Amino acid sequence: MFKVHCLNNIAKVGTDRLGANFALTDSIECADAIMVRSASLHDVDFSHNLLAIARAGAGVNNIPLERCAERGIVVFNTPGANANGVKEMVIAGMLLASRDIVGGIEWVDENSDDPNVGKAAEKAKKDFAGTELAGKNLGVIGLGAIGAMVANAGRSLGMHVYGYDPYLSVKYAWSLDRHVRHVNDLKEIWANCDYITIHVPATDKTRGMIGAGEIAAMRDGVVVLNYARDVLVDEIAMSAALQTGHVRRYMTDFANSVTTQMKHAVVTPHLGASTKEAEDNCAIMAADELRDYLENGNITNSVNYGTVDMGPIEGAMRLAAFHLNVPNMIGQITSAVSAEGVNIENMTDKSRGNYAYCMLDLGSEISDQVVQRLACIDGIYRVRAIRK
Ligand code: MLT
Repeated sequence: MFKVHCLNNIAKVGTDRLGANFALTDSIECADAIMVRSASLHDVDFSHNLLAIARAGAGVNNIPLERCAERGIVVFNTPGANANGVKEMVIAGMLLASRDIVGGIEWVDENSDDPNVGKAAEKAKKDFAGTELAGKNLGVIGLGAIGAMVANAGRSLGMHVYGYDPYLSVKYAWSLDRHVRHVNDLKEIWANCDYITIHVPATDKTRGMIGAGEIAAMRDGVVVLNYARDVLVDEIAMSAALQTGHVRRYMTDFANSVTTQMKHAVVTPHLGASTKEAEDNCAIMAADELRDYLENGNITNSVNYGTVDMGPIEGAMRLAAFHLNVPNMIGQITSAVSAEGVNIENMTDKSRGNYAYCMLDLGSEISDQVVQRLACIDGIYRVRAIRK
């Protein structure tokens, strides 16, 4: 029986899919797996039992990926599962930035006791006039699951769309509207776009990628939208640009002590993926990934180990070994198994950076002592014996 600890609320439609081999536990120390949304795991001491963490969402900056990788803890995320929710939030952000809808709603609220409110509204409405999206230039930085959907939505709204993504995958390239103009230099986005939206993960490389220099290179009156992560934007530089009016609006989903004090920023409390549909989709994908890994050893959508799929266990036993990505590890693993007279029916080994994962289907069982001997080989840091 595998024990799963849920940090944050994980939709029941997901946890229900774990099946009869699984039970939820309140104890993080006893858990074989953790399901998490945005709770930070950076200061959590992981017990040796912990085999996997599934993040119900895309961003994994709340998880210490390297520390997990070196201990053989596989970290999964759910790419694309909440993309539509975030896309819709970005569209709302563009509309809220262009029309003073919020100001108009507040005005009606303040004047709700006036018996002549209808007449007064006709006079007041000029104060809330805005601009339209159609015909404007939209720059999308990052054309993954969310960015590609935003780019296509921009096209549907009649916008001219510029897309930038040096790591564009074939899958998302195929999904893009053919009128999205793919640019290789961010300078083209800064120089041409009226709306700029960013959809990249927060990493050491992307931190602060919209800084003072980039903001200065943008068009006057630009709208910048950030529904990805706050650290991507230099918020001090953004505050200054909002003060001068060089940036017309900063739409951000990240409330903090800087953004809440910004003039002309519209700040929401990380609502991008807060829809029932997105929460259900993420929980389902996360549960399926965990189940296939814990029951079969297969790894799909991991952010710290490569993809491995040998299907459901069919043979007598499956062995999974986490090892350093250095010479002669596979040789040592297969020799140790062969020395027991056991046939290796199928095998795969995937490396990612310094770490690798080797999976073997065995023709007959090997004893727990042999499994323990394998785990003692220098460079092997976790071994799982997986049985049907
Ligand atoms: C994500 O990373 O998936 C979104 O920011 C939503 C979330 O954090 O739950």
